[in-house]
Amino acid sequence: MAEADRFFSKLGRNYKPGVITEIVLAAFDMQRKGKRLISLSGGSYDPPSFPITEVKTLLQEAPDAAWREILQYGSNRGYWRLREALSKFMEQRGMKADSEKEILITTGSQQALDLLARVFIDEDDIIGIGSPTYLEALSIFNQFSPQFLTVPVDENSLDLDLLEENLRSLKAQGKRMKLLYTVPSFENPTGAVMPQANRKRLLELAEEHDFLIVEDNPYGYIAFDETPTTPIKAIDESGRVIYLSTFSKIVSPGLRIGWVTADEELVGKMSLAKSSADLCSDGLSQYVASELLSRGIVEKQIKRVTEVYRTKRDLMLETMETSFPDEAKWNKPRGGLFLWVTLPEGVDASKMVFEAVERGVAYIPGSEFFTDPSKTNYMRLNYSFPSQEDIVEGIQILGKLLKEKL
Ligand SMILES: Cc1ncc(COP(=O)(O)O)c(C=O)c1O
Repeated sequence: MAEADRFFSKLGRNYKPGVITEIVLAAFDMQRKGKRLISLSGGSYDPPSFPITEVKTLLQEAPDAAWREILQYGSNRGYWRLREALSKFMEQRGMKADSEKEILITTGSQQALDLLARVFIDEDDIIGIGSPTYLEALSIFNQFSPQFLTVPVDENSLDLDLLEENLRSLKAQGKRMKLLYTVPSFENPTGAVMPQANRKRLLELAEEHDFLIVEDNPYGYIAFDETPTTPIKAIDESGRVIYLSTFSKIVSPGLRIGWVTADEELVGKMSLAKSSADLCSDGLSQYVASELLSRGIVEKQIKRVTEVYRTKRDLMLETMETSFPDEAKWNKPRGGLFLWVTLPEGVDASKMVFEAVERGVAYIPGSEFFTDPSKTNYMRLNYSFPSQEDIVEGIQILGKLLKEKL
């Protein structure tokens, strides 16, 4: 139907295709024309590392009683065996979570973000976010029209001095920040890690200024050069931290298994929102996830992808050294999936991406991760998905394009 705008809600009208949708469309167009596109854009899994044999085996071995559970409606909180297995998985990482009351299984952690936005954010609530931060969290929060308190992110993640200054100034005006969203371990997009002392200080600030911390941790398990940092949740004594995590980066994004761990009352409310969103998560995926955990395959996958991603990171860094212009600067990620490139001011990576796609390589323009659209001189590059050959070729193409622009 043409001109359907009159039917859309206020929220519906706000869903607009952004640069990423355009990149995806351009990529499809390339495919149609039979041209190859190297993707350094998304956060997808290394295809050869999927635990294919293991998943096939565990499904073949599933007894009829399990199939009767898999094929039936399940609990809105998630499959009990999966919650129990996750409780143990988290205990090994210093977090205590009662599998009955404090864990909710979600359709990826993306759904957890959506549920928590519904449950906690009203229009004009003050919500703290890093600048830059995970772009899809920004778009979910935006649906509820909050006011963002943006906190600059450097290699130590959030600038807590500035956060504290802002919190004091809010207090002086009789206002309060309700919730702070952070990805403290190998952040998307910058790869930053919040030091342990800062995690403690952030909790103290939350206590003093009465806000909740949403700790989104998809990447913390993938640590290249160090033991993974202790989650903020592990040192949270007063139940202020809502911990989100996912199978997407360590096992499979296609299974769509995420989870939330938080205080009983907070999880209870999110479970009610989950019921209204989709009644319960997919039974087959939850069964697979619980078996992968209890058979020790998740831990093996974490080790496996950490090795693969370290090698790919090193290859990307090496190729950038020889191909990128001197004016471009980038970090050496200590974990996670992404490399963050800073270009000289004035270079517009959002415009340049379409030329890059034309030449056969896609990346995500950094501006997508800021609330301020003028921050255009950044690029996020992914090394987990592309093959080693594609990393070398993709970086060489980008390097040539950048040299022409600078
Ligand atoms: C920081 C962060 N949070 C949440 C997600 C959502 O992941 P999923 O819904 O696949 O679990 C992603 C995906 O890239 C992410 O980077």
